[in-house]
Amino acid sequence: MVLAMAALAGLVQAGDSGSKITTLNQLIEHYDSSRCQECHAEIYAQWQSSHHAESLMGINDFSFMSKYLRQGPLSVKRPEEATLANFSCAKCHLPQLLATNDQVAKQLAAVIWNDDKQTLRRLNIGCLVCHQGKAVVHQRPGRGLIYGRQDREDHEGSFQNIRRSAFMNTPAFCGQCHGLGPNFEFTPPIQCATLYGSYLHGYVATGGARTCNDCHMPGQNHSFPPNFNNRADTTVRLRAALPLEVEVLPYTFQPDHKKLQPMVVVGVTIRNRAGHRIPDG
Ligand code: HEC
Ligand code: HEC
Ligand code: HEC
Ligand code: HEC
Ligand code: HEC
Repeated sequence: MVLAMAALAGLVQAGDSGSKITTLNQLIEHYDSSRCQECHAEIYAQWQSSHHAESLMGINDFSFMSKYLRQGPLSVKRPEEATLANFSCAKCHLPQLLATNDQVAKQLAAVIWNDDKQTLRRLNIGCLVCHQGKAVVHQRPGRGLIYGRQDREDHEGSFQNIRRSAFMNTPAFCGQCHGLGPNFEFTPPIQCATLYGSYLHGYVATGGARTCNDCHMPGQNHSFPPNFNNRADTTVRLRAALPLEVEVLPYTFQPDHKKLQPMVVVGVTIRNRAGHRIPDG
């Protein structure tokens, strides 16, 4: 029994380097990326311009959970009724939430209900989500450790020890959230991103040899474009990603000696240079 409880306590702590989080404020403080900002200013600015920094919002600050909490299978009548079960979307949009408890879920539901965007913006896929919880597989992240490209014992931030994670440089690292298909572990099952499935079955299976990071993190850049709020940049990127070739041959067809029928042959070839289908979903 004592052993079982110890195992349970371990579960509650999964991914949050040991502290037990019981309020939404604690969750925000613990995962606050601004504590990495002073020394990693450039990476911080890149990250902040990415969709990862606003993972509970769609385009133009649209709070998408607002609709899902009010209508349909994930909805509640009042925020106080919400539990973690109403937040299956957090599996990928806010994974740190799922290691907390129903009290935090109720507080988050109230924030969404009241359209408190200032607080919503502080709930995101920050440095520790990727460099801790998501950086290891088959085990929990070590207490007080962060993960990166090499071992270090002399890291200056609040985490002195960095461990190498080879996993972070693999497509499966991104695939944890970028989706294989329906998530059948939930009742009801939900589906959002399926891009990692497309990468495996439509790109690697046909000879593609680049990783997500090869294409999306040149020079360890953390801005992960496209940012759909920047329409001009997204258009330029999509034009380059999907080159379009058009061939046109006009001619006249003469089905009998009195009729002349104008005809045109149009050939359109759209190539996809990405490592997966576009758009996703
Ligand atoms: C398997 C992981 C996963 C789950 C579960 C998931 N999402 Fe997503 N979602 C993503 C990823 C990754 C993206 C962005 C990339 C993409 O669409 O390819 C995304 C994008 C979105 C977007 C568009 C955001 C934008 O900036 O354009 C919305 C809205 C959204 N999800 C809502 C939801 C809702 C609501 C749920 C729960 C019903 C949910 N998602 C569940 C992974 C997931
Ligand atoms: C979406 C996941 C993700 C987020 C969020 C994220 N990182 Fe990273 N980070 C990575 C990956 C992947 C690598 C490359 C790992 C590799 O190549 O092995 C990396 C590499 C790094 C490196 C090494 C750079 C180098 O040149 O050696 C630093 C430093 C770093 N990140 C800091 C941060 C900080 C600070 C934040 C928050 C502002 C952050 N990261 C947020 C995924 C992330
Ligand atoms: C007081 C300054 C300071 C703070 C605060 C700080 N770091 Fe660092 N970090 C450094 C320095 C210096 C390096 C080494 C940079 C180099 O080698 O180019 C580093 C390196 C790293 C690396 C790269 C390890 C590798 O080689 O792959 C990661 C990952 C990292 N930091 C993550 C973080 C995260 C996440 C935070 C916030 C929780 C953070 N750091 C806060 C100073 C800091
Ligand atoms: C913890 C889950 C998680 C991890 C790990 C993760 N992502 Fe994301 N990513 C998301 C979510 C969720 C969004 C959409 C956020 C929103 O706008 O609501 C997103 C957005 C993006 C976008 C912007 C385009 C879009 O559709 O919003 C790109 C590009 C991207 N991710 C690439 C990557 C790559 C490459 C990796 C691996 C190095 C990675 N991500 C790791 C969850 C994740
Ligand atoms: C061969 C290069 C390449 C590889 C490999 C690749 N991508 Fe992409 N990806 C692109 C290009 C090109 C785009 C188009 C937009 C752009 O250029 O920013 C794109 C777009 C995206 C988008 C936005 C999708 C949308 O709905 O518009 C996401 C999210 C993304 N990639 C994530 C990933 C993840 C995760 C992986 C690995 C599983 C990956 N990519 C592998 C090149 C690549």
